Amino acid sequence: MRGQMPDFAPPRAAVQAVLGVRNALHRAGDRLLPPEFVAFLVSTDFMYSRALGTFAELGIADELAGGPKTAAEIAARLDLDADALHRVLRLLALRGVLKLSGDGRFALTRVGRMATSDHPRSVRAWLRYEMLESTQRAYGGLTETVRTGAPSFPAVHGKSVWQHFAETPEEEQLFAASMRRVTEFDLPSITGGYPWPDEGRVCDVAGGVGTMLAGILRAKPRLRGVLVDAAGVLAEADGYLREHGVRDRVELSEGDMFEHVGAQADVYTLKDVLHDWDDERCLKVLRTLRGAMAPGARVVLVENLQEPNEPHPVASMADIQMLTQCDGGRQRSVAELHALLRAADLRPGEVRLTAGPALVEGVAS
Ligand SMILES: C[S@@+](CC[C@H](N)C(=O)[O-])C[C@H]1O[C@@H](n2cnc3c(N)ncnc32)[C@H](O)[C@@H]1O
Repeated sequence: MRGQMPDFAPPRAAVQAVLGVRNALHRAGDRLLPPEFVAFLVSTDFMYSRALGTFAELGIADELAGGPKTAAEIAARLDLDADALHRVLRLLALRGVLKLSGDGRFALTRVGRMATSDHPRSVRAWLRYEMLESTQRAYGGLTETVRTGAPSFPAVHGKSVWQHFAETPEEEQLFAASMRRVTEFDLPSITGGYPWPDEGRVCDVAGGVGTMLAGILRAKPRLRGVLVDAAGVLAEADGYLREHGVRDRVELSEGDMFEHVGAQADVYTLKDVLHDWDDERCLKVLRTLRGAMAPGARVVLVENLQEPNEPHPVASMADIQMLTQCDGGRQRSVAELHALLRAADLRPGEVRLTAGPALVEGVAS
């Protein structure tokens, strides 16, 4: 079986404490420096992410997986420029992605190893997706977005990111692989953070390749699933669900969540879906689901919560990703999600907080 699902959900309080301490140490370090130098350093952060994207795109981590090498040795094997490569890798050594020894050899650190292709926790796809020309150009539109409020990706590219993915299958696959890793990372919190039914059906709407659905079904062996998404994504889902041993319990349903979801289920899930869209289109999705739901059926929104005046190390970054890459998307607070549920004739139920995303329930009466 390819891909390894982590099965340990750390306690929420521990994760919050660790992230809080990391933030505090970072800020304390900055206070040792003149503020203008701190601002200068922050302005160069993009260099590290671009260098990391290049590192991932060129598969350098795979070259280093067998042991330390010089840039010249890697360049000779991959037909690259040794000097430019050395300079990029040296920068990454500053951020702890690599270790550079006095003889000019680079070694992977625990962080750098996550950019190898076949590590079970590899984030190579995500690093490559973030550095795609299409993603980066949308970030280039951020200032204009702040001037006008118009989402960046459609303004820069003249089409939504979903349209773009439909036209560039290799980028769609890269995005799907990235989302798969994000979801795998959160999976223990999700499977353990909600009383998923033992039997019946769960329908994951816009569920990507079925990462969350597979995790839930593996935890509940008698439960069945329906996966709704675009045709290209479902084609990949078929293989993914097979690899994870749940294909025979999942119905694949190509569908448009704005128009029609026909599946009958006890629980409908939307993970990292509402955050892609503005309120109007979120309502459209929820009303479409409401139309399919029998009395007593539930919808579970799986989202990283963002309270308006509380910067959060994950949600606030995800929020800017939505601002630039999606079409009016944003991270929302519990109150905002509840308002959407009520407007779609769904009664807000329990809110379950986890070390990862929250699970916010809406019930059809
Ligand atoms: C941010 S991804 C989330 C995927 C998955 N829920 C997860 O968290 O791993 C959003 C998903 O919405 C799907 N999607 C976009 N527009 C859709 C539509 N109109 N109907 C159904 N799915 C759609 C995309 O193909 C993509 O898989």
